[in-house]
Amino acid sequence: MARLVIVSNRVPPPRATGGVSAGGLAVALQSFVEPGTLWFGWSGRVTEKPSGKPGFADGQGVTYATIDLSSEDYDRFYVGFANSSLWPLLHFRLGLMRYRREDFEGYLVVNGNFADALMPMLRDDDMIWVHDYHLIPLALALRERGFNGRIGFFLHIPFVPASVLEALPPARDLLRALCAYDVVGFQTHTHLEDFLDCARRFTGFAVEGQEVVTNGRRVRAIADPIGIDAAGFARVAARSAGTAYIQRVRDSLIGRALAISAERLDYSKGLPNRFEGFARLLSRFPQHHRHISMLQIAARSREDVAEYQVLRRELDRLAGDINGRFSQFDWVPLRYMTQTVARTKLAGLFRAARIGLVTPLRDGMNLVAKEFVAAQDPADPGVLILSQFAGAAEELSDALLVNPYDPDAIAEAMHVALEMSIDERRERHAVLRRAVFDVTAARYCNVFVDALRGA
Ligand code: G6P
Repeated sequence: MARLVIVSNRVPPPRATGGVSAGGLAVALQSFVEPGTLWFGWSGRVTEKPSGKPGFADGQGVTYATIDLSSEDYDRFYVGFANSSLWPLLHFRLGLMRYRREDFEGYLVVNGNFADALMPMLRDDDMIWVHDYHLIPLALALRERGFNGRIGFFLHIPFVPASVLEALPPARDLLRALCAYDVVGFQTHTHLEDFLDCARRFTGFAVEGQEVVTNGRRVRAIADPIGIDAAGFARVAARSAGTAYIQRVRDSLIGRALAISAERLDYSKGLPNRFEGFARLLSRFPQHHRHISMLQIAARSREDVAEYQVLRRELDRLAGDINGRFSQFDWVPLRYMTQTVARTKLAGLFRAARIGLVTPLRDGMNLVAKEFVAAQDPADPGVLILSQFAGAAEELSDALLVNPYDPDAIAEAMHVALEMSIDERRERHAVLRRAVFDVTAARYCNVFVDALRGA
């Protein structure tokens, strides 16, 4: 059987269990990789003069190969084009997009360096699965170096309509680069349709059904929503609920309902709007004073990108403002942490919560929504409040869906969740649980790899 080679910018440490800072990608794949797999990417290190030669580590038969970045590469590729141009653009935040030609140059250089380091490790019949927006040009770089085997790409974040994408100066180059893959995967049908439309407009290639027909190649586009190891996460949550850590949490709540949010501290996650929503719950529905505690875990992320520093200061201010306005001497409504919390602890926290607030302004999928559902006790489940602009909303339509731009909608959904009868909570949760247990991480991986195998 052909060997699977995974390439992603972040490579998890062998056998990592991860925390909330890791992001969905590493977590979903980690449970799937089989012995014999090669996983290649960035070491996470920035060094003076990187050799370009990979370092190796092994874990349960999987080989992890990583290279370092120079500080110029880090600035142009990671901080620059990937996280200051592509990330805001693909999250519909044109106002936050910063573009510099030298950053795009650096992005191409690093993709070339990845291809150079990977080539000597490849066998002719390898199947390569490339992940996420950092590495769009990698297939082209590998093809230029002579690799003719199957290469697939999966985009973990949203794809945008042509009218948004056209703002990016090298939009056409990126579309052509995507057309060097055999399979291109997206989280939702909407992203898939937008990609096909952009491919048609920006490259001039013909689109037939879900395929782009290029000179001598057919690129198959698929929608393949990512999932979690639902049964595994449910088990961890049930076990975690009995630990001293969760007992401490319960003791601190003294019977109050817990509303929980957990994600990376990122402007795509809609944190200021959510804080404002919570403030409106407290001002419009004072009956909940002293009966609810909100815990926001926002793990610090991409701290070298200016917009993230601005957001952090804004959240510090908002959190202080809310607690200043509403606290009583024995009740602090908002608990705000910017540390990473281990997944096992998070699972227990989700299970202890009455409300899960997942209100990104845009999100490719959002696995926290799925984890929150999997973690609940079916006999006494919490309520999921979910942004209509998270990819997960396509599958989890029995959550309380809200427009995250409307803080009053968030406040009203929280009020509804706090008043919801146990019967309705159970009914909604049963439907959500089926969806989360149906579309798992394993299914996501199998669908993609089958498509690649058939290419
Ligand atoms: C998102 C992206 C991932 C990324 C993760 C963490 O989930 O889709 O590709 O790895 O965020 O971000 P970071 O910049 O720390 O890699």
